[in-house]
Amino acid sequence: MPNKILETNAAVPATKKGTADKTVINEDEMKNAPLHQFFVSALKDIYYAENAILEALVKMQDAASSEDLKDAFEDHHLQTQKHVKRLEKVFKLIDEQPEKKECKAIKGIIEEGEEIIKSTEDGSSTRDAALIIAAQKVEHYEIATYGGLAQLAITMGHDKAADLLERTLQEEEDTDAELTEIAETAINFDAEQED
Ligand SMILES: [Fe+2]
Ligand SMILES: [Fe+2]
Repeated sequence: MPNKILETNAAVPATKKGTADKTVINEDEMKNAPLHQFFVSALKDIYYAENAILEALVKMQDAASSEDLKDAFEDHHLQTQKHVKRLEKVFKLIDEQPEKKECKAIKGIIEEGEEIIKSTEDGSSTRDAALIIAAQKVEHYEIATYGGLAQLAITMGHDKAADLLERTLQEEEDTDAELTEIAETAINFDAEQED
């Protein structure tokens, strides 16, 4: 295996920078590093999650009645397809295979969303208000994951991967804000009127 030149980066504390700006390390050593292994495992986790979210968003769009909310779920479904593709690029950039690792957290959050659909009346704003909260739990899980992974990617010198992860992070944050706006503009008030 050829040696790889990995650039150090600004996130490394000055005291740890040592004398050189570039560190030569063996590629196998890099792949065996515990942080690299954690990074890959976490990528597999969110890769599973994004694929599960694709299915969940279709069900949530069907279950919602507000047109604004349906549109928001539809738009985010398209974005989520991009998130899957970006993750595949990230795997490629770090020379790893895209694989799914079951993510219990997202499974639980999605199950909660399914419970909401079962326990609320079809066509009600109460269901829409509850669906927004369920969707925001998904977004917050993604925001925590992408925020952390983007920072780790920077620290490990995977700048292009960090860029891709940050782009997805931004879209998750925008979606979260949009859902808040939809809830606060009408749906929460309408739901409050229902008996
Ligand atoms: Fe996503
Ligand atoms: Fe998302």
